[in-house]
Amino acid sequence: MDMSFSIERYKEESRKLDIAGIEWDEVASHPLSKGDLFCLHYMMDIENHVPLYLSHLLVTRACMDPILTAFLACWNYEELWHGENIGRLLNLFGIEFDTQDRIANVRANLGLKNSVSVISTMAGSWMLKDFSAVYLSIGAINELSTLTGYGALIRKSGHPVLKDLLSRIIKDERRHFAFYFNSAKEWLSGNERAQRVDRWMLDRVWVPVGQGVKTQEEVDALALYLFDDEQGEEELLELDAKIGKLPGLAGIKLMSKALYGARERARRDPHWGWRIIEREQWAIAPPRKSPIGHLTGRRTEVEAATS
Ligand SMILES: [Fe+2]
Ligand SMILES: [Fe+2]
Repeated sequence: MDMSFSIERYKEESRKLDIAGIEWDEVASHPLSKGDLFCLHYMMDIENHVPLYLSHLLVTRACMDPILTAFLACWNYEELWHGENIGRLLNLFGIEFDTQDRIANVRANLGLKNSVSVISTMAGSWMLKDFSAVYLSIGAINELSTLTGYGALIRKSGHPVLKDLLSRIIKDERRHFAFYFNSAKEWLSGNERAQRVDRWMLDRVWVPVGQGVKTQEEVDALALYLFDDEQGEEELLELDAKIGKLPGLAGIKLMSKALYGARERARRDPHWGWRIIEREQWAIAPPRKSPIGHLTGRRTEVEAATS
């Protein structure tokens, strides 16, 4: 993996996912299992959640750094097309949903939790001098686990068009990983205080990418489907070892710990995780309290026509 990263080159080269030549017509000609479909919905939702994640970051002290904000501007745009294209593939496979409604519903279902978390991230960042070290390390883990997850889904599904699409997305995720990893390394090198804070936060506060938007059981279902075999476990151990190369993080266990946690919960309850996949629970319920229009302030077509 090419680990060098130049922000200037990234700014010049950042562009939306190149989908030229993807055989979209072939999507429905190859099967996808319930587990594949579950993972694709999870992944799409988390890709589409990036702007809200960004909203958390933009209020932190990390964003006083213009290199970081330049990265985030491009990164956010690239991630948009990951979500869009996974959605397109699902639609072409024959699963009907309106992307905009789905995204709005995921966000609305978070309710107050989202605002509270924005405020606490902001406050935390100003109290913690080395907030950036923690955030950059988490960025590295998230990008690396995302691309590892895509690799595992390519392997599990055996679907040629999905393989083509995800391989292209993986290239973007690799660049994102390189940025976060190198930036975290720079921040942590020779900075023992930052290393201690980072390790403490990762051991105690870190959760796998998507958790919070998704429930523990959904996170576990994904882990069990993609990684609960010899190769999967091996990949997660390798992932942890890569993150462990950051100064102060030697021997850290993150994704492998998440897999073992999922296994333990599944041992206590054999239906754990798998029942979500079996029942095809990938639809997102509309928000219970207020219709989307109330939250976004956007008028419905009827309202717009009559005013
Ligand atoms: Fe992505
Ligand atoms: Fe990414």
